[in-house]
Amino acid sequence: MTDHYAVIGNPIAQSKSPLIHAAFARQLGHDLSYDALLATPETFETVVRQFIADGGCGMNVTAPFKLDALALSGRLSERAQAAQAVNTLSFTPEGIVGDNTDGVGLVNDIQDRIGLRLAGCRVLLVGAGGAARGVLLPLLQAGPADLLIVNRSPQKARALADNWATRYPVRAGGFELAGKQHFDVVINATSTGLSDAPLNLGDGLYAPGALAYEMSYGRQTPFMQEAHRQGVARITDGLGMLVGQAAESFRLWRGVLPDVLPVLQQLRQG
Ligand code: ATR
Repeated sequence: MTDHYAVIGNPIAQSKSPLIHAAFARQLGHDLSYDALLATPETFETVVRQFIADGGCGMNVTAPFKLDALALSGRLSERAQAAQAVNTLSFTPEGIVGDNTDGVGLVNDIQDRIGLRLAGCRVLLVGAGGAARGVLLPLLQAGPADLLIVNRSPQKARALADNWATRYPVRAGGFELAGKQHFDVVINATSTGLSDAPLNLGDGLYAPGALAYEMSYGRQTPFMQEAHRQGVARITDGLGMLVGQAAESFRLWRGVLPDVLPVLQQLRQG
């Protein structure tokens, strides 16, 4: 029997999720369908409930509905609770379960593909919006020695860090804090990856051999260009995170984690 899944968002035509999940299904010999569903804020809940009524097993949720998906979930994973956003819905006999796989996608991409262990590292997370909040807990759980969150509006970074500062080595402030030490990993979670707005973090940020990680993908962003200018050893966009979050969603639904690398290579080849 074919199991049905989908991604929901607006816009949605550009989504790579149907391609990624079809590739996972082929890789593992699973019988499933995966569609792209367009909704508006007014129709989001109706579209989801209709999908469930039609026998749907699970859904990925992308912009702008991650908060709507949070509100619709009867039960939340710890990481979805921490992210205050849901990108994966599972439709179970007990109801709608909300999870967030973005952070695991990022951590696995850094550790498994790039080969950099986060344990003991000094990490700089730039940005304090939804993208940063979505990955913060899994990053902290990976065991960095120190995680500094900096944001254009420092109070937003501090509010984010305050949630976790009693349990993890996390600090926060404005951009001026970033230039005061070296980092092994610098992650751009600001929306400057989607525009051409410059991101001025200053020089001397990167430790030798450091990694510059841009969470958006598809082009050389100002953050990546700046890292090149500074001679950073390892620079990557977030395509591996995209495939990684999909893989973790697949695992939640189907109990087996697909191999990310061949699918990532397929996407890079266009
Ligand atoms: P997202 O879901 O992509 O995180 P968001 O919640 O609107 O979107 O957050 C956008 C993030 O990018 C914020 O951290 C924002 O900084 P502020 O909180 O100070 O607004 C950051 N950002 C956007 N444009 C920026 C720019 N030109 N320079 C620096 N940071 C920027």
